[in-house]
Parts: sequence; structure tokens; C-alpha cells
Amino acid sequence: MHRNYWLVPVVVLGATVLYRNRLRAYLKQVSANVRAFDLPTAGMYDALVATVLEGFYARVANEVAAAHPSGKVLEIGSGPGQLAVQFAREAPGIRLTGVDISDAMVERAARRAPGAGLSERVRFEVGDVGALPLPDQEFDGVVSTLSLHHWSDPAGGLAEICRVLKPGGEARIYDLAHWLWPPVRGGNRLARLAAASPFGEGEVEIVHWPGSVPAFVLLRLRRARKAQL
Ligand SMILES: C[S@@+](CC[C@H](N)C(=O)[O-])C[C@H]1O[C@@H](n2cnc3c(N)ncnc32)[C@H](O)[C@@H]1O
Repeated sequence: MHRNYWLVPVVVLGATVLYRNRLRAYLKQVSANVRAFDLPTAGMYDALVATVLEGFYARVANEVAAAHPSGKVLEIGSGPGQLAVQFAREAPGIRLTGVDISDAMVERAARRAPGAGLSERVRFEVGDVGALPLPDQEFDGVVSTLSLHHWSDPAGGLAEICRVLKPGGEARIYDLAHWLWPPVRGGNRLARLAAASPFGEGEVEIVHWPGSVPAFVLLRLRRARKAQL
């Protein structure tokens, strides 16, 4: 049989020329996603990153459930809802609200909660941490994982978190360790951010996961019992 192998490079070259603008836009998006530790779609994030991090969510769910066995908890940047479901199962006395800026993430999370039989206690809504669509002093606790490095205004985000926490309430914000997050290399930016926020101060801990890898940091913030705002 006669095979026209020479056609292959011609077709590839032709397609590249025809679709070069789309290809350029795609590569630009891929490079932006890599720089932001993000994936192109909520579905891909859910399938890949969130699955790999299942053990990390179990650990965070356990820690937050110990701090808040009951009451109202807010999750910021709740993504596809994997932590929310683990946490709500771990703490049957809590009511959880997840807020995320992405419609697609909120849709995925909202489908996950009823599937896990948690629709009575867990809900999700679209919102920006910089302007939370929630009342003052509503929550006993706030949790967030791997979201802070995406916030366009982290200082505004912390001020909003403080506003929606009850006096005495605690926020636990887990994010990538400094060595994984180039913009904060060489300085304890989280502690400075906390000190300049309405919380007045915060504690930064290194979180070792998986095993002894210092891959994450935990910023713990507590709203003063006497309202400061
Ligand atoms: C890397 S994902 C983490 C998702 C989830 N917390 C997890 O640990 O798998 C970051 C999430 O933060 C959300 N996010 C980014 N900026 C935000 C903002 N300003 N307010 C609320 N959510 C935001 C994104 O839409 C995304 O779902």
C-alpha cells in the first residue's frame, strides 16, 4: 500500500498556520495557569489536584472540626467542595457556607453536597473574599485552603474575614509554603499582612504534608472578643 507520509507535516503546518491565534491564546492561558498554580477548568481541578490532595483535606477537616465541632463555619475559595464535604461529615453539628469567585467551582461544589446527603447543612455561593455577600459577625470560624495566593487584594480579604467573624472567632487559612509561592520568597509576608489587618496579629505555622514535606503554611487569626471595627 502506498503511504503519503509527507502529508503529515504538511497537515500539521497548515493547521498551525490556520489556528495560530487560537494556539497562541491557549498557550498564554496555560502559562498564566502554571504561574498561578491553577488548571484550565473546574472539572480538571476537581479531577486532578483535589483528588491528589484528599489526604490533606482529611487532615484540615480534622483540625477544623476539633476547633469548631458546632456552629457556623465559612469556607473561602471553596473550589469544588471536597474539603467542605469532608469537614461537614467530620463535624455533624456545623453549618457550612462555601464562597468562591468562580461560578463553575460553585456549581461543582453545589452538586457534591446533596450527593453526600449534606444539602441541609452545606451551601455554596458565588462571591469575592474582598466583598463578601454576608452579614457582619455571622460565623464562629473561617477556613480556606490554597486560595489566598489567588486573591487580588489579600489585605481586603482579611478585613472582610474579620468583619464576618463573631468576636472571639478563628480563621484558619492554609496556603502554599513560601518556597512554592515565588512572590513571597524571602519574607514573612503573611505575618506582616496579619499585623496590618483588623486582626492586629496572626500566627504562621509550617504544615508538613505529605509526610515531612513543608509544602503548606497555616495562618491563624483570631478576632478580638471586644469588637475593634
Ligand atoms: C487552587 S483553588 C483551591 C480550591 C480549594 N480550596 C482546594 O483547596 O482545593 C483556589 C480557589 O480560590 C478561588 N478564588 C480565587 N480568588 C478568589 C476570591 N477573590 N474570592 C473567593 N474565591 C477566590 C478560585 O476560584 C478557586 O476555586
